[in-house]
Amino acid sequence: MTPEQLLALRDQAGVPSHPGIFLALGVLTFALHIAAVQVMLGAAGLTLWGAFRQDVRWRRLATLMLTTAKVAVSVAIVLGVAPLLFVQVTYDPFWYTSNVLSARWVIASIVVLIGGYLAIYLYYWKNPAGAEGPVRSPWLMVLSLMLLLTVGFIIHVLTYQMNFPELWMTWYAPGGVVDPSGSGLHAFHLPRFLFFITLSLPVIGAWLLALRRYLQVRPHEDAAFLDFLGALSNRLTMPGGLVALLLGAWWMATLPAKMAAFALSPWVLVAVVIILATVFLPRILGPRLDQGLWGYATFALGAAALILVGTAREILRYRTLLGSHGYDPLTYRIQMDWYSTLTFFLTFGVLGAATLGYMLTVAWRAGQVEGVYTPTPGLARLGRWATGLIVLWILHYFVLGFITWGA
Ligand code: HEM
Repeated sequence: MTPEQLLALRDQAGVPSHPGIFLALGVLTFALHIAAVQVMLGAAGLTLWGAFRQDVRWRRLATLMLTTAKVAVSVAIVLGVAPLLFVQVTYDPFWYTSNVLSARWVIASIVVLIGGYLAIYLYYWKNPAGAEGPVRSPWLMVLSLMLLLTVGFIIHVLTYQMNFPELWMTWYAPGGVVDPSGSGLHAFHLPRFLFFITLSLPVIGAWLLALRRYLQVRPHEDAAFLDFLGALSNRLTMPGGLVALLLGAWWMATLPAKMAAFALSPWVLVAVVIILATVFLPRILGPRLDQGLWGYATFALGAAALILVGTAREILRYRTLLGSHGYDPLTYRIQMDWYSTLTFFLTFGVLGAATLGYMLTVAWRAGQVEGVYTPTPGLARLGRWATGLIVLWILHYFVLGFITWGA
């Protein structure tokens, strides 16, 4: 594919804001998505592991992790939509071609995702919180994990195939015979996929540490359970981080020739340093983990690490498509639309901050008190403001619709 052919595949309407904004939001939302995926996989893995243990602490953790996994699946899916929107805006010639070449898998991924989602709920239904006795139907949890990993693998293939326009024709018409079925998965890179999946070990380790700190402030919390969480977190965070780094090194060492130079990029070094800093942080903090907000610091640094890993991943794609194929997303034609740009940022920054801020604060505080929780007057006011803003936001769309009717 020549650069001209690739440019001809772009949306001729252009983009409604600077393409750099889409790229940056793509990285940010990818980091959020992958963090939710890793919490989901880690929590589901611990649920399964705990299901086969007799130890009462493991059983309590498995119940807690099942709730976490259920919520994290929804969050991972919702937060998957955002990078999907951004990648298809700036890289549309590549993303859509890759999707069309594996169209059946793209459609199948939705069915597989529904299966994985249902399986986790069925397992929950069979093993409600507080259930005594042996765990029922643990195979449902195994099935769910396998299906969710399959979805991740399909998405990995789509993301990877887009880097190889020089191979698209051989995939579309092998031996000169057109195959429009979209039934193939044409290229994948196992170490890359495994790197993102094994990062769930340190991520869930950091999550457990945060959970431990959160439970610590509850009155009458079981000290033995808190110690258990701390020890388990230690066993997961550092060793898990090192395994992920080894897989990352394997990924970099096996990059295809046109990407190989990236392995020596300072971005790789930055990503390695921040991952190492994250996994060693609990040891550095020591007893401070039990003070103030320090117990949450490892997860917070881990989130920053994922943003930097996401940035490095984006730079790899940017350099590959620019260096080998002459495609620069930053040169996308801009058809500036201030109205939609402002609506987006206000929705994200004001409406999102108010509603999410309210719901998360209520959930956070409610979990730390015994008995019925009553929000403070200030928080209740924030709730009313958030509801009002949502009503205003919905009305604004109707008003806009009427104003522009027939225009
Ligand atoms: C629930 C199971 C899922 C898992 C395990 C998963 C896992 C992953 C992984 C490992 C990657 C990185 C791939 C790579 O760079 O090679 C990724 C990227 C991505 N995921 Fe997911 N994902 C899941 C669900 C979803 C869903 C439901 C969506 C869409 C609604 C989604 C949207 C995306 C997008 C758009 C990217 C790539 C963005 C880009 O290339 O810039 N994911 N996911």
